[in-house]
Amino acid sequence: MTVKIAIDGPAGAGKSTVAKKLAKLLNYTYIDTGAMYRAITYKAIQQGVNLIEENKIADIVQSADIILEEEKFFLDGKDISEEIRKPEVSEKVSLVSKIPKVREILVQKQRKIAEGKNVVMDGRDIGTVVLPDAQFKFFLTASLEERAKRRYRELKTKNVNVSYYEVLKEIENRDTIDSQRDTSPLKIAEDSIVIDTTYLSEEEVLEKLYNIIKEGLKGE
Ligand code: DC
Repeated sequence: MTVKIAIDGPAGAGKSTVAKKLAKLLNYTYIDTGAMYRAITYKAIQQGVNLIEENKIADIVQSADIILEEEKFFLDGKDISEEIRKPEVSEKVSLVSKIPKVREILVQKQRKIAEGKNVVMDGRDIGTVVLPDAQFKFFLTASLEERAKRRYRELKTKNVNVSYYEVLKEIENRDTIDSQRDTSPLKIAEDSIVIDTTYLSEEEVLEKLYNIIKEGLKGE
């Protein structure tokens, strides 16, 4: 039997950092589903597609060749790991990810990648939709201000020119669209363990998750 670990939560809650480290510790495969939605958004922007033209975006998803390799992301053979983190992609990704056809195709891809493997998968709908039978489901959250602070610091280290206020507004806007969309919105799975990381360090969050998993796997 393989082990599936789902980590969901709003933007900037520290999911991907913790998920990546957890996967390393356990020697599991890490799957960043947000990067897949970002890759489609990037391609749509590159092609000059208006993001409300749902059919055109659905065509892009159908034809896109997305490959995850360790922490690198390839779209149609090109490494786009850095491009997909840029503010213009972050600003628009929620519009693309609320299109039902986009979700349908990407959810299928995500399940396929996870098949037959031990995985740590992070996103918004992993515990509710993508891997509802995951043995471990976590929902990481933190106050809006703290999440904006973390994102702002991260962008500054990458020399991205934005203000704290812009980051806060972008995250707030993304939270609203992600939580209110009709198809698989961001919500807490009933059997999920909720962890508020506002006052916790990355190491503390990682330790919490790791201990819960180790305890849960005992005797399996
Ligand atoms: O985790 P992230 O910030 O890289 O995700 C980018 C966007 O992709 C997020 O605002 C909503 C969307 N997303 C989603 O709808 N479902 C997922 N499983 C993962 C991300």
